[in-house]
Amino acid sequence: MDIETTVADGVMEFTLNRPAKKNALTEAMYLAMLEGFAKAEADDGIGAVLIRAKGDVFSAGNDIGDFVAAVQKGQGLAAADFVRKLASFPKPLVAAVNGLAVGVGCTLLLHCDLVFASDAARFSLPFVDLGLPPEAGSSLLLPRRIGLARASAMLLLAEPMDAREAKEAGLVNGVVADDELAGVAREKARRLASKPRAALMDSRRLLRGDSSEISARMEEEFKAFLAALHSPQTQAVFAAFLGKNK
Ligand code: COA
Repeated sequence: MDIETTVADGVMEFTLNRPAKKNALTEAMYLAMLEGFAKAEADDGIGAVLIRAKGDVFSAGNDIGDFVAAVQKGQGLAAADFVRKLASFPKPLVAAVNGLAVGVGCTLLLHCDLVFASDAARFSLPFVDLGLPPEAGSSLLLPRRIGLARASAMLLLAEPMDAREAKEAGLVNGVVADDELAGVAREKARRLASKPRAALMDSRRLLRGDSSEISARMEEEFKAFLAALHSPQTQAVFAAFLGKNK
C-alpha cells in the first residue's frame, strides 16, 4: 500500500509509503487519503489526522507520469480534489516532514495546523521552473505565512528552504532529530485529539480565516495550472525528467 492508514489514540495517521519513487503522489494515493478523510470526518472517535512519510524524502510532489497521463487523457487532476479536501477538512491536521518536500508535498503543509520537521527537511516549490503557476492556495497562503519576500524567493526563484530557515520563517513549528520526529508529531496530534472538540474545531476555523477566499484562489490557481500543464514547455520538462529516470 502506497498510503498506510492507521488509527490510534484518536489520531488517524497517513504514512506515505512509496519510498522508491520518493513518495511522489499518485491518483491512487490521493484517493486513499480522501477515503481516510471521509472516515475521519464521520468518526467522532477521531480528533486529528497526522501525515508522515517513510524513506528519505517526505514527498517529491505529484507523480510526473500521472501529470503526463492526465494531459494525454484530457482528465482533471486528482490532486485538485485532495487539496480541496485538505482546505475544508474540519479537524486538526499535523504533518511530520522527514526530508525533502517538493511541490504539493510542500503546499499541503500550508493547510496543516502544526508542522514538525527533522533536521534533514527541505522545502522546495519549483513550479515556475517547470512552467507552472503555484497551486493549493500557496500564492495566498505562503506569503501570509512567511512574508512576501521569502515567498517570492521560494515561488519565483524556486530557492529551497532548509529546516532551520523554515523554523525561523514560521513555516514549521519545530525542528527535531530524525529519530524523534514521529514521536513528537504523534504526541502533539494526540494532545489535539484529546481537547474539547467543538472549541478546537471552532478555533482552527477562525484562525484559518475566510475559507471562501482560499477556495476562490485555489480554483483560480488550478485553472491556470491545468492550462500550463498542457504547454509544450512543461511537457518537455516532464519528458526530460521521465527520460532521464528511465
Ligand atoms: N514523479 C514521478 N516519479 C518521481 C518523482 C515524481 N515527482 N520524483 C521522483 N521520482 C522517481 C524517479 O523517476 C526515480 O524513479 P526510477 O528509480 O524508477 O528511475 C525515483 O523516484 C528516484 O528518483 P531520483 O530522481 O533518482 O532520486 P534523487 O534522489 O536523485 O532525487 C528528487 C530526488 C526528489 C530531488 C528528484 O527525484 C526530483 O527532482 N523529483 C521531481 C520533483 C518535482 O519536480 N516534482 C513535481 C513538482 S510539481
